[in-house]
Amino acid sequence: MRLIIMGPPGAGKGTQARFIAEHYGIPAISTGDIFRANVSEGTPLGVEAKRFMDAGEYVPDTVTNAMVRDRLAEADCEPGFLLDGYPRTVAQVQELDGMLTERGCELQAVVVLTVDGEEIVQRLLQRAVVEGRADDTEDVIRRRQEVYAKETAPLIDVYRERGLLLEVDGMGEVAEVTSRVFAALDALPGA
Ligand code: AP5
Repeated sequence: MRLIIMGPPGAGKGTQARFIAEHYGIPAISTGDIFRANVSEGTPLGVEAKRFMDAGEYVPDTVTNAMVRDRLAEADCEPGFLLDGYPRTVAQVQELDGMLTERGCELQAVVVLTVDGEEIVQRLLQRAVVEGRADDTEDVIRRRQEVYAKETAPLIDVYRERGLLLEVDGMGEVAEVTSRVFAALDALPGA
């Protein structure tokens, strides 16, 4: 399976991505996680990404696209993959289209998790207490929501027009959301 999972910050993309990846035997590729690993290791990519992430802004497309291209070229992506947090801009959609064409493959579905705005803020403030992620302060969470609304929400219509969109209610217990995602994916033709 070749999938994307989308949704606003805190919608539960990373949480659900782990279950989807395990269930379908594909790697979950989170651009946010790759950036954070680079920040922890102090690599040049991490130094570059950190100033954007800490402000709640997107890392420039050129940096992100090259990183995803390298990751998709790895052997474990042969049977499929789940992209979490990529693409996030129209330019990234076009870049991903090119990467898939070069590989001679297509996306099967784009899962979008829908969650109330206030629930999201509460989830992320709670995560700030547990994990201490640098971009989980209230101001930066609000900025991430604004950037998502402006840059990424329009991608939902792009994928809807392509007939790839699976909108899934992301409210409720984690296991309930997982069941809804599996039901939507299992109903795909050929799944
Ligand atoms: P990224 O790491 O992708 O952050 P995000 O999109 O803001 O998403 P989050 O990780 O905050 O939330 P999530 O939807 O994964 O939810 P989660 O499962 O963690 O990106 C971070 C930054 O990197 C970006 O701001 C940008 O700077 C940069 N970046 C990344 N990709 C980029 C790209 N393509 N282009 C440019 N820049 C890019 O859940 C959140 C919390 O809620 C957790 O504590 C979880 O335990 C909890 N939770 C989950 N589900 C439930 C539930 N059902 N009920 C209760 N709690 C729940």
